[in-house]
Amino acid sequence: MPEVAEAAAGRNRAVTPTGASLPLVRAEALTKVYGNGTSQRVVLAGIDLEVRRGDWVAIVGASGAGKSTLLQLLAALDTPSSGRVYFASHVLHSLSEEQRAEFRRHSVGFVWQRHHLLADFTAAENVAAPLLLDGVSRGEALRRAVELLEQVGLGGGAGQRASELSGGERQRVAIARALANRPELLLADEPTGELDERNAEAVFRLMEQLHESRGLTTILATHNAALARRSPRVLVLERGFLVPAGEAAAGAGPAAGAERDGAAEAGGKEQI
Ligand SMILES: Nc1ncnc2c1ncn2[C@@H]1O[C@H](COP(=O)(O)OP(=O)(O)OP(=O)(O)O)[C@@H](O)[C@H]1O
Ligand SMILES: [Mg+2]
Repeated sequence: MPEVAEAAAGRNRAVTPTGASLPLVRAEALTKVYGNGTSQRVVLAGIDLEVRRGDWVAIVGASGAGKSTLLQLLAALDTPSSGRVYFASHVLHSLSEEQRAEFRRHSVGFVWQRHHLLADFTAAENVAAPLLLDGVSRGEALRRAVELLEQVGLGGGAGQRASELSGGERQRVAIARALANRPELLLADEPTGELDERNAEAVFRLMEQLHESRGLTTILATHNAALARRSPRVLVLERGFLVPAGEAAAGAGPAAGAERDGAAEAGGKEQI
C-alpha cells in the first residue's frame, strides 16, 4: 500500500500525550482501506494514538471521516488493513478468536448512536443480558442490572420494556448494559446523536460521572461541538489522520470550535 505509507510519511505525527504511564489503548500506523482496484478508499491512512488509563478523549470529524471505523477497530469488531491496535500489552488482531471475544466481553463496553436494545425485554433484562451470556445466574444478573440502572438514574424503570422508554432513557439503559461486565474501556459512537439537546446534555453528563466514579477510560466520537469542547482532549479525524484539535485544518467541522478550548484545558499537554 505505497500511497498510504507515502501519505503517512508526510502527514502523520504520533498523537501522544505526555506522561510516563503505560497507555491502555495504542494504535500504531493503523490503516483501513475499503474496496480494491479503482474503487479503493483509504479511510484510515496511518493512525498513531495513545490513550492512557483514565483519559477521556473526544474524536470529531466530518461525516464519513472514519470515526466509526476507528472505534470498531479499537473494539476489535473489525480488523485493520495494516498497523496494530494494542490493548495494554496485547495486539488485538493477534489474539485468538476466543481471546478477542473475551476482550469484547470483559474489557470494553460499547455504546452506539442507536441503543440496540431488545424492544420486548425489560430494561433490567437488557442490562443483564451480557451477564447471562457470561454465565452469571439469572437472579444475580438481574440484581446487578438493577444496581446499574440505579447508577444511571433509572432505578424505577427496571421493569419497563425497552419499547416503552424514551430515547434518553434507552440510551441510559444502553450505557448500563455496556458497563455490566465492568470494562476498563468505554467506547461510544455518537452516543447523543439521536437525542434532543436536553437529553444529550444529561446523557453526556452521566457518562462524565460514570467515567470518574468507575475509573473508566473513555473514547467517544461526536458531532456535537458543544459537548466535544468539554473534553480535555479533542482529536480531529481528517483525511485519514488524527490531529490534535488545535492543529486541525480551519473549518474542520465541530473541531474548529473545540480546538482552542480543548487544547487550553489540556494545559498545552498535547504533544505531537
Ligand atoms: N464496510 C464498509 N465497506 C465499504 N466502505 C465502508 C464500510 N464501512 C465504512 N465505509 C466507508 O468508510 C468511510 C468512513 O465511514 P465511517 O462510518 O467510519 O465514518 P464516520 O466518521 O463514522 O461518519 P459519520 O459521522 O457519518 O458516522 C465512509 O466513506 C464509508 O462509506
Ligand atoms: Mg459514524
